[in-house]
Amino acid sequence: MTDARIAHPALAARRMPADEAAALIAPGMTVGMSGFTGAGYPKAVPQALAQRILAAHGRGEAFGLRILTGASTAPELDGALAKVGGIDFRLPYQSDPELRARINAGLIEYMDIHLGQVAQYAWFGFLGRIDVAVIEVAGILPDGRLVPSTSVGNNKTWLDLADKVVLEVNRRQPPGLDGMHDIYYGTALPPERKPIPLLHPGDRIGEPYLKVDPAKVVAVVETDGPDRLGRFAPPDETSRRIAGHLVEFFRHEIRAGRLHEHLLPLQSGVGNIANAVLAGLREGGFGGLTAFTEVIQDGMLDLIGEGIIQTASATALSLSPEGVERFVRDIDTYRKRIVLRPQEISNHAELVRRLGCIAMNGMVEADLYGNVNSTHVAGTSIINGIGGSGDFARNGFLSCFVTPSTAKGGAISTIVPMVSHVDHTEHDVAVLVTEQGLADLRGLSPKQRARQVIAHCAHPDYRPLLQDYFDRALRDSRGKHTPHLLNEALSWHQRYLDTGSMKP
Ligand code: COA
Repeated sequence: MTDARIAHPALAARRMPADEAAALIAPGMTVGMSGFTGAGYPKAVPQALAQRILAAHGRGEAFGLRILTGASTAPELDGALAKVGGIDFRLPYQSDPELRARINAGLIEYMDIHLGQVAQYAWFGFLGRIDVAVIEVAGILPDGRLVPSTSVGNNKTWLDLADKVVLEVNRRQPPGLDGMHDIYYGTALPPERKPIPLLHPGDRIGEPYLKVDPAKVVAVVETDGPDRLGRFAPPDETSRRIAGHLVEFFRHEIRAGRLHEHLLPLQSGVGNIANAVLAGLREGGFGGLTAFTEVIQDGMLDLIGEGIIQTASATALSLSPEGVERFVRDIDTYRKRIVLRPQEISNHAELVRRLGCIAMNGMVEADLYGNVNSTHVAGTSIINGIGGSGDFARNGFLSCFVTPSTAKGGAISTIVPMVSHVDHTEHDVAVLVTEQGLADLRGLSPKQRARQVIAHCAHPDYRPLLQDYFDRALRDSRGKHTPHLLNEALSWHQRYLDTGSMKP
């Protein structure tokens, strides 16, 4: 029997419990799942799959999968599968503690890849065959098209490429999501590619629904559960100061005629600091803004709700429980102002460059010369992944990275002589901001950049140490382009590992 959520008769007839759907997934398969920063991930099939894997392992049988997603998911997917040892390979961005621990224990092969590039990698054939897609949707229309849920991510690609499709129809996702999405079906492989016809963040260039060949749909599973609902740390003195420096910088750029009073489309990264920076923009009195970004967190939802951001393009809603409440309450207003797109479009290099995005992302550490590490502790342990930061940093009008100047209660300086892992090279980084100040690195040579970074970003406890390192490197390098003391460059990290502090 069909209903408003599952209105296609043949697909309604393929309804089954999650464990029966999970039984269609065999060991060794590559499974493309929905999910992006805790939104729109399948909630029942992965857990049933975890039970199946556990039972297989109990019988002494090998059962591991290659799991491809949009980005991070939640304990019901990444956590459940990682816990039972069911993931052999995973890409891209992740943030689940269980999964992270197994990756860092060497038990899971993890490929960290720019989020804007995942879909094309799949289409190029670089990721091999996709056996099954498991995709959460908000509904199935009478003609079989799918109403996407709170994230779009790589769903279009998994639905197109997978041999078989399992749909989870989540009745908890608000029906008002219908009409918020814009799915572009015009991408092609080189040399057939054409320009993507998007000129403003709010342009609709596709259609509101995902397509799937009904013949490929082997199961429809009904669910009724909320997305994982993380909470953001409220802005504190440190994040307020970081936001304040950025706001002052934007004002300076407007006065200098390099930025319009409505700025340029904003991209704001994941995490507490990025969320807090948006609160700073609100207090800074800006208006008439737009966003061309990856996720909409609470900070951005507030700005959209208040009309400070007029139009926002993203691929996912990553909201706290309170944020979801506000979103659902005013969904008709948000539908006019938010466009959710596939991540190959939300993070597309061509579009980020065309629109001139202002990229603002969190980081783990930066070095004297402006190289940025977004992903690793002490060069070896992954935290989350590069996400879309590289898509925006390399191609944006302005590339800003923000962090408190210290971590772990002051035991770590986030400004170091040499980063222990490089995600964004000095060539991709224009502005570094800590609560201490802002280093404007545009148009500067490496030595000039180092002087700015030490003076404006380093914590006072570490500034003399960085100055001393730079002075000695300068002296010993005898004029070399990028002075370093190679036997000392990573000694701060080693000291932290040995003693628990970077301080001597
Ligand atoms: N060394 C070791 N640990 C560090 C560190 C450093 N230099 N800098 C930060 N950390 C730790 C913090 O102590 C904290 O750990 P805890 O959770 O155990 O307290 C954790 O990293 C997060 O730090 P926080 O200061 O709260 O920052 P955040 O929530 O803003 O996250 C990143 C910062 C870098 C982890 C986050 O922005 C990220 O994953 N970035 C990469 C992806 C990205 O940029 N995506 C944007 C795409 S649009």
